Amino acid sequence: MWPYPTMIAHRGGGTTAPENTIAALDAGLRHGYRAVEFDVMLSRDGIGVVMHDPDFGRTVPGPGTVAGLDAADIARLDAGSWFGPEYAGEPVPLFVPFAEYCKAHGIWMNVEIKPAPGHDEATGRHVADTVRQLFPQESDAARLPLLSSFSATALRAARAAAPELPRAIAFEGLPADWEGQARELGVLSVHVDHRQLAPGQARAVKSAGFGLFCYTVNDPERARTLLGWGVDAICTDRIDLISADFR
Ligand code: G3P
Ligand code: MG
Repeated sequence: MWPYPTMIAHRGGGTTAPENTIAALDAGLRHGYRAVEFDVMLSRDGIGVVMHDPDFGRTVPGPGTVAGLDAADIARLDAGSWFGPEYAGEPVPLFVPFAEYCKAHGIWMNVEIKPAPGHDEATGRHVADTVRQLFPQESDAARLPLLSSFSATALRAARAAAPELPRAIAFEGLPADWEGQARELGVLSVHVDHRQLAPGQARAVKSAGFGLFCYTVNDPERARTLLGWGVDAICTDRIDLISADFR
C-alpha cells in the first residue's frame, strides 16, 4: 500500500537550503534523506520547472510569473539569494535535470503537480509524460515517482497520459467525499495537512486501503503521534531535526 520511504524532505531540503533547488537535494543527501517532495509548474513555453509559487517575488526576484516566461529565462533567475548570500546564483531547476539528479543519487520522488492557474491539464500531462520518459521500463514499483496534486483536473490528465504511474490526491483538510474522489481518480494515497487530520480520519483512510501522507510536520513528537495513528509517510521541513530513519 505504501512501498516508499516514511520520511520525505519537503521541497527538496526543507528549511535547511533554498527550496526546490539542487542545493536543497544536496542538503537532503547530507542529512541522510533519500526521498523528496518537490513542486513542478509549466513555463510559458510548456517546460516543467521546479517552483512552488506561480508568481516571482518570494524565492526569485520579481515581478513576473512562471507561466509568463520561457524556461531558459526562468532557469537564469537567482533562487538562492533570498535564503542566504552563500546560495546566491543558485538556479531554478528545470524538471528533467532535477529528476535525473534524483535518479542518479537514488532519491525517491514525490512530484507535486503544481499548475499555475488555468494550466492544470497541460501540467498534469507534461509531468506524467516526462516521468514516463525518465522511467521507461522500471520493474521496481517502489522506485517510480509518485505524482500528487491538489488538482483533480491535473491528476486526470496525468492518468490519461501515463495510467501506469502512481498518483495521489492532496487535500488541506479531508473533504466529506474524499473517498469518492480518491476512488474516481484511482490514487494510491491521500495527502493531507496534518493539522487538519483527526485520528478517526486516519483510520478511515487506512481501512479504505489508501496510503496516508501528512505534510508538513516539523515537530518530532507530532511525527511520532501521526505514525502511531497509522500514517505512512511524513513530509518535513526539518530534516536537521527529524532523521531520515525516524520511526
Ligand atoms: O505535497 C505536500 C505539500 O508540499 C503541499 O503543500 O504548498 O508545500 O506544496 P505545498
Ligand atoms: Mg508541494
